Amino acid sequence: MNGSLRQRKKVTRIALPTAVLLLVSGAVTVQSIDPAAAAETTLRAAAAKAGLFFGVAASPNRLYPIVGQEFNQLTPENDMKPDRIATSSGGLQNTGGADTLVNHAQSNNMLVRGHTLVWHSQAGALQGASQATLNTFIGNAINRWGSRIAYWDVVNEALEDNNTGRRRTQWPHTMNRDANGDGDFFDAGDTDVIRDSFIRAKQVVQAGGLTTKLCINDYDVEGLTVQGGTQNRKANALYDIVRNYRQYIDCVGFQGHFNDNPNSIITNDLQANIQRFADLGVEVHLSEVDIDDDLSNNDIGAGQAENYRKVVRACLNVTKCTGITVWGISDSESWRSSERGLLFTGGNGSYQKKAAYHAVLDELNKGRNSTPPPTTPPVGPTTLPPTTPPVTSAPPTTPPNPTTGCSATVSLNSWTGGFVATVRVTAGTSPINGWSVQLTLPPGATLTNVWSANRSGTSGTVQFSNVSYNGSVNAGQYTEFGFQGTGAATGLTPVCTAS
Ligand code: G3I
Repeated sequence: MNGSLRQRKKVTRIALPTAVLLLVSGAVTVQSIDPAAAAETTLRAAAAKAGLFFGVAASPNRLYPIVGQEFNQLTPENDMKPDRIATSSGGLQNTGGADTLVNHAQSNNMLVRGHTLVWHSQAGALQGASQATLNTFIGNAINRWGSRIAYWDVVNEALEDNNTGRRRTQWPHTMNRDANGDGDFFDAGDTDVIRDSFIRAKQVVQAGGLTTKLCINDYDVEGLTVQGGTQNRKANALYDIVRNYRQYIDCVGFQGHFNDNPNSIITNDLQANIQRFADLGVEVHLSEVDIDDDLSNNDIGAGQAENYRKVVRACLNVTKCTGITVWGISDSESWRSSERGLLFTGGNGSYQKKAAYHAVLDELNKGRNSTPPPTTPPVGPTTLPPTTPPVTSAPPTTPPNPTTGCSATVSLNSWTGGFVATVRVTAGTSPINGWSVQLTLPPGATLTNVWSANRSGTSGTVQFSNVSYNGSVNAGQYTEFGFQGTGAATGLTPVCTAS
């Protein structure tokens, strides 16, 4: 068990009036919603209508009817981890539990998330293995279940605790080498277990013609910031990994173990952080959600149900947030039962719905739309908790300019004391191979965080330019970057110049 975790308390269209989630080769698709349709009465049906999955972590001894009734995705809580199924040479053993879970999921029309291939913890016989052995295991595990597994967590929890933004230092990350000493593992001469494991996994998927999508999964990466408004360096490090290895990575799991650890609280920028990963083109999942119900010391904010509602809404508001998984059925059967972080009480197949369950069901039934996140206070103090609902302003647009070849618009989410902006850069009638955007921040506004762009300046007139992977934009197409800041950011008028 991870010490720090212990401390931290093919798309098919059908003509139906209601939306339906279709599970075809792991793809999730949504049909149009008839607003007059009755609310769904199960989590899976409500989620399906909104175009995402709602899943649960499960074990073979807890495959009660509720699993298939309420959930349409299943993650083996422990039965696909290397300490269960890997031999020291990267072969497979003891796959009975995993097989039971995959079969159960299939017969209940549930997606499966394989969890997990490369992890410093619960490594079992693989502990200390070479990359070659890890690659053998990756190939064996992926091929055993093939496309029956919609998503695999290829690498789990690669980043250090305590918001350092660094990779872990224990095996398997001990294999990493920073050849040119520039502080990262992204260069051609570097060795990186994350990259090499994903390359192997992608080879296996492609060679087998599988539909399986490959995910990286971690915790304390959910917000742009952590408690106190400090940048979430762990989230930024994960973002850099996904950006650099985008060709191999299809999906990102934010585990979503929310509690009162300063790095694990629910911040108001959860949706913005989901959005910036989504803007890289990957699916985002909230992959292991539990929300501490520790109201006793009054540090968990507005209550568990409202916190669940807020987290679910953040995902619903981002189209590429395609699934939410809770880490167990009931509080008493959770591996962290003292946090009472799940949606049901009871146990052994007899469960009672909590207020949190009803809040989640209600929010899912509202579907994907532009509903602002609930305006309840954040969990735990942040520097400037919003006192007004987030506002999305009409985007000021620079008119398409035939001489510069691009235009830019800004979408703004503001609250008292802070804002997150998404800037869309659209190519004109010709392709562009680079761009820069200039805008002027009002007095008192300061940038604290930027993604998918280079930047000069933090206040006043600020210049942004493309990064390596988003400079080329085809005619009429667009790319996006974002930034976060303190103060108020009204009246932003971006000017785009193409190169
Ligand atoms: O199966 C043995 C049993 O035979 C033995 O009697 C008992 C004695 O303690 O232990 C049982 O194994 C336990 C196993 O869960 C199954 O219940 C292990 O001790 C226990 O350490 C293990 O804990 C798991 C934990 O990962 C280990 O890191 C939890 O169930 C599981 O929920 C948890 O899951 C992790 C994700 O994989 C990654 N993200 C964090 C998440 C927990 O929040």
